[in-house]
Amino acid sequence: MKSASVIAYAILVGAAAAFVVPQARDNSMNSTTIDDTSLLNYVLTLKNLENAFYAGALNSFTQDDFVNDSLPTWSRARFEQIAEHQQAHVDLLSNAIGSGAAQACNYTFPYTSPSTFAALAEVISGVCVSAFVGAAQYITSSDYLTTAAAVLSTEARHAAWIAGPVNHQNAWSGALDTPLSLDAAYTLASQYISGCPSSNPTLPVTAFSSLTIANASLGQASTVTANNVTVEGKYVAFLSGVTPTFVQVVGGQVVVPTTIMGTSYAVLTSSNVSVDDSTITAGVVVLQFPYNSNGALEIA
Ligand SMILES: *[C@@H]1O[C@H](CO)[C@@H](O)[C@H](O)[C@H]1NC(C)=O
Ligand SMILES: *[C@@H]1O[C@H](CO)[C@@H](O)[C@H](O)[C@H]1NC(C)=O
Ligand SMILES: *[C@@H]1O[C@H](CO)[C@@H](O)[C@H](O)[C@H]1NC(C)=O
Ligand SMILES: *[C@@H]1O[C@H](CO)[C@@H](O)[C@H](O)[C@H]1NC(C)=O
Ligand SMILES: *[C@@H]1O[C@H](CO)[C@@H](O)[C@H](O)[C@H]1NC(C)=O
Ligand SMILES: *[C@@H]1O[C@H](CO)[C@@H](O)[C@H](O)[C@H]1NC(C)=O
Repeated sequence: MKSASVIAYAILVGAAAAFVVPQARDNSMNSTTIDDTSLLNYVLTLKNLENAFYAGALNSFTQDDFVNDSLPTWSRARFEQIAEHQQAHVDLLSNAIGSGAAQACNYTFPYTSPSTFAALAEVISGVCVSAFVGAAQYITSSDYLTTAAAVLSTEARHAAWIAGPVNHQNAWSGALDTPLSLDAAYTLASQYISGCPSSNPTLPVTAFSSLTIANASLGQASTVTANNVTVEGKYVAFLSGVTPTFVQVVGGQVVVPTTIMGTSYAVLTSSNVSVDDSTITAGVVVLQFPYNSNGALEIA
């Protein structure tokens, strides 16, 4: 059976082609200077996206549609609970920020059925977990820490439930979730954003040029290409857990390390020691290598 996440990956790549507008990197502002309000607006931007994503799908598909598309009978009502959580998170963040809070944008999500929605939900919830883990280091006010941790752990439960019981895949990808930098997570999110109110605050983030790793397969050489960015001699950082694995691009190719499992990410970097918004030059590729309860790969 072709796995749901393979479908999600295809959706994501298709969407990237349609919606990512590569922008020049703005190095005038870097993540070390981000203040708590900007950080909260970044998190709110992701939460607004998720809120619209779940509400829109529930608005489009009935219980019959879910069951008819082979999703569990109980799944739609649970997705309603997730949608309520997203609204609660949006309200919480908006109230904390006050008048400068980012408003919802317009979005284009490339699902066409309950099952493709569930597959995309696995990717989007996983990216948000990674985004919040990656953003944690910038919180300076201890007042926000408990709330941020509570939001993150709830998000991780959503991601695990969607991947496991709904999509019948690994509910986790290893002992440690994978942090994504602010720009990296924003790059993935921005492909679904088609327009934002001009009154919204400017976020301290920029989307990277797009990266592709053709037919990525563990232990196999794959061709690397990036939009307007030279790949030769640079590194692909494979992100799976908190320690990246760097592979230099030689002859336009990298051999995908066999150590990555579950949902992982890959970015092109200028460095072979650190992955952050100053060393990433293109990305982000979502890689999914689902594994079963014996730890064996589940290849379509
Ligand atoms: C980020 O900004 C700070 C303060 O302006 C500066 O000290 C630091 O070198 C900058 N870091 C990078 C990677 O540009
Ligand atoms: C369920 O699927 C069947 C066959 O594909 C179709 O005839 C039927 O109209 C569908 N029902 C709903 C509620 O979508
Ligand atoms: C959002 O979409 C609506 C309906 O198409 C449109 O009227 C509005 O201008 C859009 N807003 C932005 C900020 O793109
Ligand atoms: C990727 O795999 C597909 C199917 O196996 C094949 O048709 C295609 O040529 C491959 N693409 C590249 C760039 O290797
Ligand atoms: C990328 O290259 C294309 C074609 O050469 C060009 O039109 C586009 O402006 C470039 N984008 C950036 C961000 O440099
Ligand atoms: C990392 O890059 C440096 C050059 O920048 C090189 O000397 C070193 O061998 C590289 N290390 C690995 C493990 O690739």
